[in-house]
Amino acid sequence: MPPSAEASARAEFEQRFGSSPDFVAVAPGRVNLIGDHTDYNDGFVLPMAIDRSLTIAAKPRTDRSVRVHSLGETAEFGLDPVRHGPPSWSEYLRGVAWSHAPAAESPGWDGVISSTIPAGASLSSSAAIEVAAAVVFDHLAGAVTDRTEMALAAQRAEREWVGMECGIMDQLTVARATADHALLIDCRSLETDNVPLPDHVVFVVLDTGTRRELTSSPYNDRRAACERVADALGVDALRDVDLETLERDSDGIDPADVRRARHVVTENDRVRRATDALRGGDIAGFGALMTESHISLRDDFESSNAELDAMVRAALRAGALGARVTGAGFAGCAVAAVDAAGLDDFIAATASGYADATGRTPELYPCRPSRAAGIVRLDGD
Ligand code: GLA
Repeated sequence: MPPSAEASARAEFEQRFGSSPDFVAVAPGRVNLIGDHTDYNDGFVLPMAIDRSLTIAAKPRTDRSVRVHSLGETAEFGLDPVRHGPPSWSEYLRGVAWSHAPAAESPGWDGVISSTIPAGASLSSSAAIEVAAAVVFDHLAGAVTDRTEMALAAQRAEREWVGMECGIMDQLTVARATADHALLIDCRSLETDNVPLPDHVVFVVLDTGTRRELTSSPYNDRRAACERVADALGVDALRDVDLETLERDSDGIDPADVRRARHVVTENDRVRRATDALRGGDIAGFGALMTESHISLRDDFESSNAELDAMVRAALRAGALGARVTGAGFAGCAVAAVDAAGLDDFIAATASGYADATGRTPELYPCRPSRAAGIVRLDGD
């Protein structure tokens, strides 16, 4: 277990700035249980926040500049106006300073960021930094932004400032999740619903050790393919299409695009069935849908890779109830649902199965369904 992000950020703040931070903002990572590449098609997703987090220890300044340390690097920028910097994690901070209205009313601040969420592993390290920064600006401006508005501002930062055409799943999960629950999101209405997760099932993150670049993934191409199919079918988004319509009306559409769309259409249906299965206590049914989702992402959406496929195979052989690539994919992590009673054996067998298949040592860790971002401590509280 790495040291808590909060303890590291606090200690480093004291070392860098010679005083204690005034407050600490924390934002969780997330793992998506089912429903990938559906959010930007106005569809359904079922993620949970995890007990890996990103922390910003901060203190206000008397001017309007922001000075932040992380990963051995210092970023410094003014808020009047915010300007782009070199490509780095600080672009997410600048993006939120630009997109989140309370930043206009906030003093500048000094800060230290520390994180136990691996970057580029599909566990939403970028949404965590964005939402944590929004929480910092809210706190300093004395604002209480509605959490859906906060998620939308964070998404705007990622799409319009950083250039990754993401959906709303990650930011909304980090901003709104509840402990012990998954979060069902209707990505068209942005309505959310807490779905209780059973105690006897553990969700295990299966990190293949492979990584994708922050913005150069084929993610934006996949999104464009989905939009082409929606246009060709004359609908606002693939949310409005069922499998029968897609199969009937797909003449003349690029067959690769049709496969991408088939994943989205079938995945929306799986999310709804998986939610019903969870609510009805049918965890075997839930697991089977996770595995079906992997096959669809692998064969139709083509957002898996050889290591992720090997990991999912190893997890299923080791007795997982279900397993799938999670998040954007192309590299990074898979997730498995595992019976709590067999957890240790599962981890040992999956690690050795994966190592045998790929020659790589994976990192496997059970995750607790955790709560949304917030301020964890104030001096004098
Ligand atoms: C990334 C994006 C999300 C979502 C997933 C795939 O995490 O940020 O909006 O599209 O990929 O489901």
